[in-house]
Amino acid sequence: MDPLLRKVLLITGALGQLGQAATKMFLEKGAVVVANDIGDVDQSREMKLLLQEYGENRLIFVRSDVTREADSALLAKEIESKFGRLDGYFHNVCTAIHKPVLEQTLAEWELVITGTLTSAFIVCKSMLPLLIRSGGGSIVNTSSIISQIPAAYNAAYGAAKAGVNQFTKIVAHDYATSKIRANAILPGIFFAQNKISELSNDTLQLIHDNSLLERCGTAEEIAEMAAFLLSDAASYITGALIPVDGGYHMKN
Ligand SMILES: NC(=O)c1ccc[n+]([C@@H]2O[C@H](COP(=O)([O-])OP(=O)(O)OC[C@H]3O[C@@H](n4cnc5c(N)ncnc54)[C@H](O)[C@@H]3O)[C@@H](O)[C@H]2O)c1
Repeated sequence: MDPLLRKVLLITGALGQLGQAATKMFLEKGAVVVANDIGDVDQSREMKLLLQEYGENRLIFVRSDVTREADSALLAKEIESKFGRLDGYFHNVCTAIHKPVLEQTLAEWELVITGTLTSAFIVCKSMLPLLIRSGGGSIVNTSSIISQIPAAYNAAYGAAKAGVNQFTKIVAHDYATSKIRANAILPGIFFAQNKISELSNDTLQLIHDNSLLERCGTAEEIAEMAAFLLSDAASYITGALIPVDGGYHMKN
């Protein structure tokens, strides 16, 4: 049976590498998908093909900025008016500016914290009432293995992702009695399948050296974990921080 059959799921950052892979995969697993991104859908051939293939009863695209509370509240309204419910969401949006602390401006720091951590709060705050009205649901936040293992020039991003981890656990704690599960995925380095062949030898070597499995992850391998956490098969999993990193955390 399709593990996500008839589940109404929101994916934020749906035009990104992981968001696109998840959109396609969740549809194939039976879900109704609301794909959100700040970007223009006309610039994504893949998303336009999916919209044509599945039609508006299975997939809609909503362009909005989830760092804005009013936009995110409108997104929740649109989901409720179109589908009447929400069973879970997969939050992928991030902002990354990689610099040593002494070179990072406060404005850059705030951009990273807003895009990466505050967005997780805003999406949660907007969607929770609808998830609760729908009888409960599953929240999956995309964190990063960098939230636990330091990497050069990642102070703002690493701190924001560490915040995402703790935020996720506290949501799991506070809303368990409302039948809400919340978990975070901690990816290592991954790319969309079609981007891997374009990587330089230096990048491939770096990835190889940082992975027990000696290779780069794919967006599909991360999306598989999200699909599992959003399905009823994960009904006893909440408050978990799950590395999907080819063993990066064992090598660093
Ligand atoms: N790629 C990796 O190696 C890697 C490793 C660890 C963690 N991650 C995490 O995985 C997630 C997805 O990564 P990716 O590589 O697919 O990223 P990506 O940059 O390809 O996609 C992110 C998407 O989010 C959208 N977005 C940005 N700000 C937004 C906003 N305010 N509102 C709505 N949409 C917005 C962008 O337009 C983009 O389409 C991120 O949270 C990232 O931190 C990635």
